[in-house]
Amino acid sequence: MALLDELERMRESALADIGNADSPDLLEAARVRYLGRSGLLKDMMTRIREVPPADKKAAGQRLNAVKQELETRWEEKKNAAGAARGGGPRPDPTLPGRRQPLGTIHPVTQAMERFTGIFEKLGFTIRTGPEIEDVFHNFDALNMPDDHPVRDQADTFVLENNAILRSQTSTVQARVMEEHVRLHGGKEGMPPIRIVSPGRTYRPDSVDATHHYGFSQIEGLAVDRDVTMADLKGFLALFARETFGQETATRFRPSFFPFTEPSAELDISCVFCRGKGCRVCKQSGWVELGGCGMVDPNVFDTLGIDSERFTGFAFGFGIERVAMFMLGVDDVRRFTENDLRFLRQF
Ligand code: DAH
Repeated sequence: MALLDELERMRESALADIGNADSPDLLEAARVRYLGRSGLLKDMMTRIREVPPADKKAAGQRLNAVKQELETRWEEKKNAAGAARGGGPRPDPTLPGRRQPLGTIHPVTQAMERFTGIFEKLGFTIRTGPEIEDVFHNFDALNMPDDHPVRDQADTFVLENNAILRSQTSTVQARVMEEHVRLHGGKEGMPPIRIVSPGRTYRPDSVDATHHYGFSQIEGLAVDRDVTMADLKGFLALFARETFGQETATRFRPSFFPFTEPSAELDISCVFCRGKGCRVCKQSGWVELGGCGMVDPNVFDTLGIDSERFTGFAFGFGIERVAMFMLGVDDVRRFTENDLRFLRQF
């Protein structure tokens, strides 16, 4: 029977074409050629008229069987190709792209950059130091000898070889002065020092709304001939006005730090109530910024700077504290929780 012979030949070549189709285009071409609406199989199905009546039924069954077989083979081949491509539907290049969300600068970093920016304008250079420190730079060099109670601050974060996590950025003062003496000597002719140092610090504090074991400070140091307490007050008052607004008042309260003498706490008039008294400043009209003072001559002597010839001032502020009241954040833990709903606001 001519038609059935033709059908068998067509089946052979269709199976071969489908089997060899190694691209989506070739596979589609095979479908059109054999299984398409005006394909070879369709053509044969209309030619079943030619078949003598006695053979018609058998021919019809064979045609349907071949059609099924080819369709199944074609589906299998297409699925296999899809799996090799990584499965799933073909990518649709006309869909809009997925936007990569842009991050924002962390509020603590923003505060740091604002502070360092102002001090840079005043002629200070930014210097950083290691967060893993030695006991000498964290304590001894800053006039806190072995038996000083403040050393408890580093108790928890002791690493190998007597290394600790620094409990204050004052370490950078010590390192910068040490380097300065190495480069220029500590006597007559030594150029002045003016640095600020932002960075992370660590203390064994239990975490609550206002305490964290990891926090940030910014440290400042100026050393020259004839630096006085008036310079300290002038620079910090200027800094406070630049940072918090021109109407900001400053107040210096006597205090104690082992590495400054005299020492003071610096307060600024509350940025929220302008000094009238509110919840943020606990009705006092003032909020504390940090510590400051005139560099203790013992520190100069330890590091090799001539304390008869040079004087200096230093200061250190906690950045999260300041960022909290600037931004109206009520819990220091928000800064490290990485909740994007919080961070995106700034
Ligand atoms: N290091 C002090 C602290 O962590 C802050 C401080 C006070 C730094 C007075 C100074 C300073 O440079 O002069 O509490």
